[in-house]
Amino acid sequence: MQLPSLTIRNSKIETCIVQGGMGIGLSGFRLAGTVALEGGLGVVSSAALDRIVAARVGSKRPTHPREAAAIEITDAKKLGHGHPVGINIMVAVVRQYSHSVLGSMDGGVDVIISGAGLPLALPDIVKDHIRADEVALVPIVSSGRALDLICRRWKRSGRLPDAVVVEGPMAGGHVAWRTLKDAYDPKNRLENLVVEVIEEAKRWGNIPIIAAGGIYTHDDIWKYLEVGCAGVQMGTRFLATHESGASETYKKKILECKKEDIILAEKNGSPCGMLFHVIKDAPFYEEAVAQLRPPNCNKGYVLSRDLKCSSKTGTETLCICNGLLASVGLNPAEKELYTIGANGYRVDRILSVKELMDELKGT
Ligand SMILES: Cc1cc2nc3c(=O)[nH]c(=O)nc-3n(C[C@H](O)[C@H](O)[C@H](O)COP(=O)(O)O)c2cc1C
Repeated sequence: MQLPSLTIRNSKIETCIVQGGMGIGLSGFRLAGTVALEGGLGVVSSAALDRIVAARVGSKRPTHPREAAAIEITDAKKLGHGHPVGINIMVAVVRQYSHSVLGSMDGGVDVIISGAGLPLALPDIVKDHIRADEVALVPIVSSGRALDLICRRWKRSGRLPDAVVVEGPMAGGHVAWRTLKDAYDPKNRLENLVVEVIEEAKRWGNIPIIAAGGIYTHDDIWKYLEVGCAGVQMGTRFLATHESGASETYKKKILECKKEDIILAEKNGSPCGMLFHVIKDAPFYEEAVAQLRPPNCNKGYVLSRDLKCSSKTGTETLCICNGLLASVGLNPAEKELYTIGANGYRVDRILSVKELMDELKGT
């Protein structure tokens, strides 16, 4: 059955599929623009765009993060023939957060999706931009309580979310929980979180709910539409496309990996403090676990300079930025680190975005 469209503020997305933002460099303008062209919401990741765009335009110095976000969004919109394009901006990337927000607005972004922390300040950051009224603001939450906190705070700034992404524990990248016990608690399964967040959203008006984490097939999409979601966000399926930024070795690893190879990294975990899905025999991760490498955080994205994770000596964290940059060919001196959703082992072919969208649409 044909999937419905999805409207978020001023943007009508032909098919209710949001391609999840994937950092670092996995969902760039090429992936996002192609998804937009195929009728989904294409989403650029803002993570490390200063280095990614600099490499693309042949500059030795990082591009200013505001300019970098504007360039990436402009290029995605161009490739997508003006169809709606979003940006995913992680709260945890504190030092570039507002630059990424404003730069994406300069570049013509339609939807800003923000998680990896509560995006409480987002409405205040956008409010003086000339495009503030046009741009949709979409938080990512993993509980009804988080949505309540966000709505209370945003209301004081005169806005409410234009849609909400509810992300469960099967999602690629970071998940919201800090312990494996919480992540695997049945009450936190996506199908349960969705019910809780839909209930909370009803208290605030008619906010479209977008389910994310472990959604893999056309039938999975319908399962969430039938319980009241307006759309879905999918990452892992789009990671395994020709248009994603993943290196050839990353894509090969995705095809080879088995269910038991995909784990939630706790110790050594992400410097953001949340659990992080990895393929466990990625070279970078194996070295970190064997304590063959110190947590060498020298990129400065995740925490403020004072709190950078290298100050946590020992074995608590991975320096995920270095490994992730290597996995998109931007850090040749480093080994690769692979993140993926819990369903990643089901990938048996790398598809084009068009093939994938046709499969998901059921056409
Ligand atoms: C490789 C990969 C990288 C991701 N990176 C980010 C990110 O930088 N920021 C973010 O908010 N979500 C990130 N995500 C989560 C996706 O946006 C999406 O919500 C999630 O992948 C949905 O689950 P699925 O992978 O099972 O489809 C990432 C997911 C994957 C697979």
